[in-house]
Amino acid sequence: MSENHAAPSTVGQLSAHGDESAPEFYHPPEELVNNSNIMAYAREKGFADVEALRQWSVENYQEFWADMATRMVDWYQPFTTVLDESAAPFYQWFNDGSINIVHNALDRQVKTWRKNKVALIWESEQGDNKTFTYWQLYKRVNKFANVLKAMGVKNGDRVTIYLPRIPEIMIAMLACAKIGAMHSVVYGGFSVEALQTRIQDAQSRVLITADGGFLNGKIVELKKITDEAIKHSPVVETVIVVKRTGHDVPMEQGRDIWYHELMALPIASPKCETEPVGAEHPLYMLYTSGTTGTPKGLVHTHGGYQVGVATTMHFTFDIKEDDVWWCAADPGWVTGHSYIVYGPLILGATQVMYEGAPTFPYPNRWWNIVERYGVTVFYTAPTAIRGLMRFGEAWPSRHDLSSLRLLGSVGEPINPEAWRWYHRVVGKNNCPIMDTWWQTETGAFMITPNPTTPLKPGSGTRPFLGIDAAVVNEQGEPAGDDEDGLLVIKKPWPAMLRTVYNNPDRYIEQYWTKIPNLYTAGDSARQDDDGYFWVIGRIDDVIKVSGYRLGTAEVESALVSHHDVAEAAAIGLPHEVKGNAIHTFVILKNGVEASEDLADELIAHVGKMMGPIAKPEAINFVTSLPKTRSGKIMRRVLKSRALGLPEGDLSTLEA
Ligand code: WT7
Repeated sequence: MSENHAAPSTVGQLSAHGDESAPEFYHPPEELVNNSNIMAYAREKGFADVEALRQWSVENYQEFWADMATRMVDWYQPFTTVLDESAAPFYQWFNDGSINIVHNALDRQVKTWRKNKVALIWESEQGDNKTFTYWQLYKRVNKFANVLKAMGVKNGDRVTIYLPRIPEIMIAMLACAKIGAMHSVVYGGFSVEALQTRIQDAQSRVLITADGGFLNGKIVELKKITDEAIKHSPVVETVIVVKRTGHDVPMEQGRDIWYHELMALPIASPKCETEPVGAEHPLYMLYTSGTTGTPKGLVHTHGGYQVGVATTMHFTFDIKEDDVWWCAADPGWVTGHSYIVYGPLILGATQVMYEGAPTFPYPNRWWNIVERYGVTVFYTAPTAIRGLMRFGEAWPSRHDLSSLRLLGSVGEPINPEAWRWYHRVVGKNNCPIMDTWWQTETGAFMITPNPTTPLKPGSGTRPFLGIDAAVVNEQGEPAGDDEDGLLVIKKPWPAMLRTVYNNPDRYIEQYWTKIPNLYTAGDSARQDDDGYFWVIGRIDDVIKVSGYRLGTAEVESALVSHHDVAEAAAIGLPHEVKGNAIHTFVILKNGVEASEDLADELIAHVGKMMGPIAKPEAINFVTSLPKTRSGKIMRRVLKSRALGLPEGDLSTLEA
């Protein structure tokens, strides 16, 4: 694992030790602690402090999660079994209960005074904005659910959603869930190849997209990319197109239909019964990059997932009735699924959604939004903080950010410099930062502080309630204090992934075989002598670029699809803002000449195939790649060489 510890000098925890004057612990404001949801629960359960509650909840995790499943959400038919382990690691939670996530997100809200509460404040970098009450959102979802039914979408079908960060993405996802269909959202920053493989794997007959989206004042051509992807995935029969930009796009007769036209038809009635489904009924699949080959469609379910999402948001971000929540992620990633689309609605919160870049037209855009809407809890990624830091303090300082009471971070380790800046400049030394470690697989937070936790910059502190996390060595034995090892989860949890879509073997292989009976996350970590966790980074062939998860295999396959490329390898190397950047090593076909122009062309090619986020930082033309005797590229060796580090164990290197 040693190659992953080559943290750069400016990014990563290794730089934590530079600043002698900084305090070790940052203590939360007393008022926040005393009024927190988690403290209230600890008191109710008779615990002296939150840490005692946490220890109890880990030991009695089934009892804890059953309590949450009863308190946080409503069931049509209550469950009698909490956890069914008979087919482990295919665990089942609340199996015999009947529920639907949309019932808890919308239906039950409109039966209370929250009917007229603002659910969503949406704003775009273009300056337009819209507000939806729970009632308005509820009716839109009903209408669109009826449209989907009229298009022949049934319980169990998969619908691909490829939309920008606009309210319709929420409406579409909720409409699928409402009728028991699975959504498969493809992030709007992905391109042809990524979209095509995901449509193909999910076998979606219906796809929902837009004529475009806005980013940095430019139009992202979602419809054109869709058309190209469908050429290679003929399974799609119907494309529903949201008019967002209003610019001209080709519409194919008999296949493409405008969203607004469908929503104006009598079939789009605002009344639609939510379909009761079993707790284990699949809610969605979300593709994520793994060690090898094609992305995996991770499957989440209606029951356990919503319990996990609602519970974590309630205790970690301490959401109260009058909060204004803003998660700046994209709904197309799990962060957006859990903490934009589902979590806030289940808790009945008001939230902000922003379509566009944080720096458009100026680097104060986010702080301006916080001030105007009175955002109280704000959640973003380290890469965004580092990016905004570069523009200086003057931008946030021009705004009144005093409405903020809690901040959050997710996606990759946050380096202490960025943490301190976020804490001081954005949070005015008054807002604890919830550094939440979790994954698409885990569905909800796994290691995270809560508002009562003394913080250390760069550490996610301790596992969430009911979560049994540990650091172990390759043999599965506990690692010592400050010793690097594998991050594992020892007990199942309700929001965990259930399988890899259509590929149960891959589920077992990927997560449950490295160390028998323990879930291995694919991250390395260590625990300090306070028991705090420090996540170091991925140990597999996954690269976190600006918090986005990309597989080396996907980048390599995009490169090899270029007619001049014979072979390619991709690795991640430290980058000051992005955390990691993609560096590639390319062997050209015989007779092809390496040149700067060709390098640029290859970078553009990967951008076109995969999406802008996958564009390599550098192309290195080489004549050979280090391989094992069985022919696998040794990316570890490439990385060590690039960083000027010892190359480690080369015993398997091809002679
Ligand atoms: C991987 C999962 C979960 C939402 C977004 C990412 C890294 C995530 C943290 C954090 C250190 C983190 C890990 C993890 N990661 N959050 N707070 N500290 N590392 O989901 O795309 O499935 O990526 O992101 O490496 O395994 P994802």
